[in-house]
Amino acid sequence: VRIEVRRADGSRTALALAASGSLMTALRAERLLIGVCGGQQSCGTCRIRLSADQFQRLPAPARSEQRLLRALPASGALDRLACQIALDAALDGLQLTIPGADG
Ligand code: FES
Repeated sequence: VRIEVRRADGSRTALALAASGSLMTALRAERLLIGVCGGQQSCGTCRIRLSADQFQRLPAPARSEQRLLRALPASGALDRLACQIALDAALDGLQLTIPGADG
């Protein structure tokens, strides 16, 4: 599964990931984010940002995910929790941004 990651500083990384587990687990293994709570939807440290067209590619977020995202001070309407996204072949070519703590 090919994923392109842009960091808050503008640098980009192209990843080729195995289709298993969650997107958070894979990005954490690459040291691109932290994922403190391990996918329990309680920390928000796995937050990613998408463009509108990339956002549409993903299954809609559950209410519990939306609730935590709303509670995060800097989150926007196109943010998702990477721990709630299954890393499968449908994600191939996905482009995402890892926002900074205040972005
Ligand atoms: Fe904590 Fe996703 S890893 S909310």
